[in-house]
Amino acid sequence: MEKSRTLLALILQVLYYCKAVSTSYNTFFYQDIFKGNGNGELHFNGIKLRVETTLPSVFTLRGSNVTLPCRFWYEPPLNSPRSVRVKWSWSPITGDREVDVLVAIGHHQRSFGDFKNRVYLQHDLPGDTALVITNVSMSDTGQYRCEIIDGLEDESVTVDLELRGVVFPYQPQNGRYHLTFPEARQVCEEQDAMVATSDQLYMAWQEGLDWCNAGWLADGTVQYPINLPRYPCGGLGLAPGVRSYGPRHKHLHRYDVFCFSSSLRGRVYYLEHAQKFNFTEAIQACIEDDTQIAKVGHLFAAWKFLGLDRCDAGWLADGSVRYPITTPRLNCGPHKRGVRSFGFPSPYYKYGVYCYSSR
Ligand SMILES: *[C@@H]1O[C@H](CO)[C@@H](O)[C@H](O)[C@H]1NC(C)=O
Ligand SMILES: *[C@@H]1O[C@H](CO)[C@@H](O)[C@H](O)[C@H]1NC(C)=O
Ligand SMILES: *[C@@H]1O[C@H](CO)[C@@H](O)[C@H](O)[C@H]1NC(C)=O
Repeated sequence: MEKSRTLLALILQVLYYCKAVSTSYNTFFYQDIFKGNGNGELHFNGIKLRVETTLPSVFTLRGSNVTLPCRFWYEPPLNSPRSVRVKWSWSPITGDREVDVLVAIGHHQRSFGDFKNRVYLQHDLPGDTALVITNVSMSDTGQYRCEIIDGLEDESVTVDLELRGVVFPYQPQNGRYHLTFPEARQVCEEQDAMVATSDQLYMAWQEGLDWCNAGWLADGTVQYPINLPRYPCGGLGLAPGVRSYGPRHKHLHRYDVFCFSSSLRGRVYYLEHAQKFNFTEAIQACIEDDTQIAKVGHLFAAWKFLGLDRCDAGWLADGSVRYPITTPRLNCGPHKRGVRSFGFPSPYYKYGVYCYSSR
């Protein structure tokens, strides 16, 4: 249904277009009204509109400002500037439909939705229509389209925006394979993270992530990364790789999840204190230190990007107990880098605590 409607829309568009430029088969040519001979006559002058980007994909950090390059020009060059319409739109990585980000004519700009007052055109040079996004959030990732519209002509390029970050498997307190897809999204958000994409999991696998529990990914598929083939993780016969169960039913099937947390501003630290805390005392201890108890995403990001290394188990906001190791050593778990987990101990037990401050 959706497909046939898109097809119909496309046919209508093509018909409309053919009619509009019926004197020329070359759709790159546009009708130049302004440079006509003054008799109201229109003529085609064979000028081409070109649009390009210097970076088809851009990596950035959460909270920073990012510039998505785009520029346009005419071939051959024009003597007088023309008024074009610039439109930036965005398709989220989850494959939802394209939404408007910004529309500009000359120096008038309008931004939309979550991008309102957070984006602007760079306008450094003539033809420069690079998009600046301030305070990038994790949900800004996806494909951006820079479209230049001059009369009948319409050209565009795309730029992918990706975040540097860390992927971590997440299993809630009630154990393995308990999350539907909507619940998976929620638990990642609660850990200051998002459900990871297949690309993010693949990159994490390349960096050595090995996890034998299957988890949801943003596209609704269920996968797990294996570097050391073994039984029962697909068996010894399969080469190392990211194993996939393919798409699963988002409401009926239950798995773990892979969350993605982008590097963060602020700091995560182990609270130095003479005694250990039960879970409620741990939450309170961070508040008394003018911060808050860290979330799992905070700890992973600090481990990966700030090199946090501490051989002391501490409470986190979800009631789990973990510690981050970047330099493996004796009595600090297995001989590899990682965030170690004690699972979800009884809240009466005493441990240290990891706190997070956004400043
Ligand atoms: C991002 O841009 C805004 C407005 O242009 C500016 O106020 C802010 O300092 C910039 N932030 C960073 C991290 O550069
Ligand atoms: C940046 O965005 C986050 C939400 O994504 C918000 O909490 C924060 O206040 C924003 N910071 C600035 C400087 O606008
Ligand atoms: C933690 O200890 C406090 C006393 O310091 C006690 O009131 C509280 O009930 C304890 N909570 C848990 C979950 O053990």
